[in-house]
Parts: sequence; C-alpha cells; structure tokens
Amino acid sequence: MLSARSAWDLTANPLAALLAERRQRQQPVVDLTLANPTAAGLPVPGDFPARLAAGAAAAYRPEPLGLRSAREAVCAYLAARGSLVHPDQVVLTASTSEAYSFLFKILTDPGDEVLVPRPSYPLFDFLAGLEGVRTVPYPLRYGAEGWRLDVDRLAAALGPRSRAVVLVSPNNPTGSFVHDDERAAVEELARECGLALIADEVFADYVQQGPVPGRSFAGPADVLTFSLNGLSKALALPHAKLSWIVVQGPPAARQEALGRLEVVADTFLSVATAIQEALPHLLSAAAEYQAPLRQRLAANLTCLRQAATAAGVPVLRCEAGWYAVVVTGTDDEPLALSLLRDDGVLTHPGYFYDFADDGHLVLSLLSPDLPTGVDRLLRRLRPAGPLLSGAPGTGGAGIG
Ligand SMILES: Cc1ncc(COP(=O)(O)O)c(C=O)c1O
Repeated sequence: MLSARSAWDLTANPLAALLAERRQRQQPVVDLTLANPTAAGLPVPGDFPARLAAGAAAAYRPEPLGLRSAREAVCAYLAARGSLVHPDQVVLTASTSEAYSFLFKILTDPGDEVLVPRPSYPLFDFLAGLEGVRTVPYPLRYGAEGWRLDVDRLAAALGPRSRAVVLVSPNNPTGSFVHDDERAAVEELARECGLALIADEVFADYVQQGPVPGRSFAGPADVLTFSLNGLSKALALPHAKLSWIVVQGPPAARQEALGRLEVVADTFLSVATAIQEALPHLLSAAAEYQAPLRQRLAANLTCLRQAATAAGVPVLRCEAGWYAVVVTGTDDEPLALSLLRDDGVLTHPGYFYDFADDGHLVLSLLSPDLPTGVDRLLRRLRPAGPLLSGAPGTGGAGIG
C-alpha cells in the first residue's frame, strides 16, 4: 500500500540507540553535535517576536515567488555581499530543503541523477529520493591545500541521466568553499553536458579562515545556476522558515526555469506572510543576529585548535561554517560509541557524512559545551598527552 521510495529502514543506528537509552536514564550528555542555534544558549535580538507579530497583522497576498518587498530585501542583502541580483530572479521557499525539492521537480524526472559532494550533508539522499531521483557522489579530497573538489572524478561520474551538480559552498561538514578554479571546471562540464548547478551557500556568512577562495554563486553566471540560502543559517533562525533561490544563467534558460518555479511555488504557497513582511527588517539587521553566533564559533574553534595542537591531534582546515573535523586515527563508530557510553560526549562519526576513510569525528562549533567535550575527547585520544598548555613540537600536522 505504501510507496517504495518511502520504505526506509527506520531502525535506530547504534549511536542513536545508545543516546536514547542514556536520555531515558536521564544521564547527562555533552552534546557536540548541536545544530540548532536556538538551543545553543545564544541571545536572540529582542525584536524578532515583535517583528513577526507585526508581520502577522498584514493581509494575505498570495504571490507565488514571494512578496516583492521580501524579494527586494534578499537583493539588498546580496548586494551588501557583492552580488547584484534583480528581484525577479529570486524565489522564496519555506526552507532550503524545500528549495531543493522545488529544484529537483523542475530539473529532473524519476530515475534521473544529481551529483552530490562526498563528504557532505547527509540529507541529500532523502531530498532526492523523495522526488524519485538518485544521488551520485563525487569526491572532495583533503590535501596540503585543504579540501579540493576532484573534477576528474566528477566528470567520470556523469552519465546520460545526470541533470544537475550540487555544490555546497561552504560545505557541511568540511567547511570548504568551492574555489574559483574548481567552479570554472565544473561550469565547463555543465555547459558541455547540459547540466544545471545548484549551489548551497547557507554557511557563506560564517567565514573562519580567509581569504574566501571563490565568488558567490548568487552573482551572474553563464550556465543555469541556482544559489540557495535562508534564515535558518544566515540569521540563525531555523524556526523563521524562510529561504530563497537566486536564479542565474543565460536569460532564456533563466526565464524558463523561473516560470516553472513559479508554478511549483504557486502549487504550495508555503511561505508565511508574517515572515515575508518581517524580512526587510530582519535582513537589514543580519550583523546583529549573527554576532553572538560568530563569537561562539570563533571561541570554540580557537579552543579546539589550541587543545588539539597541545595533544598532537590534527584538526582539518576549516574555511567556514559551523563544524570542525578532528582526525582520530581510529574507527569512527566504536570511538563515537565509547565516547558517549564512557564519557557522556556525543559526537558525529565521519561515516554519517560519507567520509571516504575512517578516522574522523565531526564536532559542532555551536555547542556551549565544546570545551568540556573536547577535553574529554582528547583525553581519550591521547590519554598520556598534555592538554591545555601549548607543548612545543606538537604542531599537529594538518592542523588548519
Ligand atoms: C548544507 C546545508 N544545506 C541546507 C540545510 C538545511 O537548511 P534549512 O533549514 O533551510 O532547510 C542544512 C542544514 O543543516 C545544511 O547543512
């Protein structure tokens, strides 16, 4: 009776099962996987509820692409970051996940393929699967220059059913931008093979280590390109439920795509009026919304790097975003399980994000408990090593 595409294996993985058990026993958890900024003990600028309430008083005007004033506000936000975009190129959605679903609807038919980076955000398989589309991974590799996109492997992964390449810049969890030379190579492939580019830029405002090596995909492009961002990450307001798609590319292809997106958006009309009305104010106050979060991310990254350097444990180069990757040199899953069971520290094993090799843990830099969790993690990895004072000579190969 139920569909094949929703026949997921719903058995909890061992880490989720252990966590549920721990929570049921009311044992404390130092959560280094926290992804919800509203649960991170950060102050939210006081006028968010008032702005939303004021917006809720407005009359309902069902505009499929979103209220003009809201789309103009997105353009002003992008202009302040160097991308000139016309409001007619902007489509509002309720979330970035919804933006993916709209794009897969207009770009693919069931059985088609989209290329996705690996390691990356684990939701792609679900987002694509729900549209009857297959994900085909292409690798990012870590080397002397940090993370780089393997363009040859991307080209080799393309097939007759390939329709789009997903680029995540900065990527979750590697924190790496798509560099301009990588972008040029991918655009060339897209031109040759008639592919669209979907660039997820939700973490673009959270630069940890500059200079930024690639320009934003929201700006002009000569292949059909969709740039995604939204309040969930840009303003740390996941409960605001508003994201946007910027459509770039040759005018004819862009117009055709926008026309189709308008029909999809009109079918759902999913973005609440209140948040659209509030958007101009919220985006103009972006710096204020981001400030406490930026401070947390920077302080946690510094703490992690210092402690890891002292313990001789490598942390991979992180250009941007909310996450850091620690190289543990040991099997992901047993380590994550014993950290939770014996030390009460919750981390994500690298395999959750499809790292090519074992030996990585992903930590959220959002967590207020990161110093405690990192201390326990490093004691487990280097039980005899010094932790807090910067011991010389342990410069930590690969520390970014
Ligand atoms: C790379 C990336 N894209 C999109 C999203 C989801 O964003 P939204 O909450 O707007 O659906 C996330 C959430 O963690 C993410 O990491």
